[in-house]
Amino acid sequence: MYRRLQPPPAETVTINVDGQDVSVAAGDSVAAAVLTLDLLPTRTSHISGTPRAPLCMMGVCFECVMEIDGVLNRQACLVPVREGMRIRRQHGVATGTS
Ligand code: FES
Repeated sequence: MYRRLQPPPAETVTINVDGQDVSVAAGDSVAAAVLTLDLLPTRTSHISGTPRAPLCMMGVCFECVMEIDGVLNRQACLVPVREGMRIRRQHGVATGTS
């Protein structure tokens, strides 16, 4: 379980994750937002289908790839949330479903 070390900032934005609107802290990365909301896994592996989740949070491991605003395979740990952002978890081979 992921938790903050400090209280979240007062400002929030609304993003949409897999069709569900959620309120998250402004300034968080997409990966931090989905971890905070416990929306795991963020993807499943291409071959075995095993559940995956953000790991390094600094752009190295690629475990956090998600579809963000219609663009597949974005590293969610490197993208800050913004109002109205649309995010989809990727399952298996990314095929561009939006
Ligand atoms: S969490 Fe490792 S690249 Fe995003």
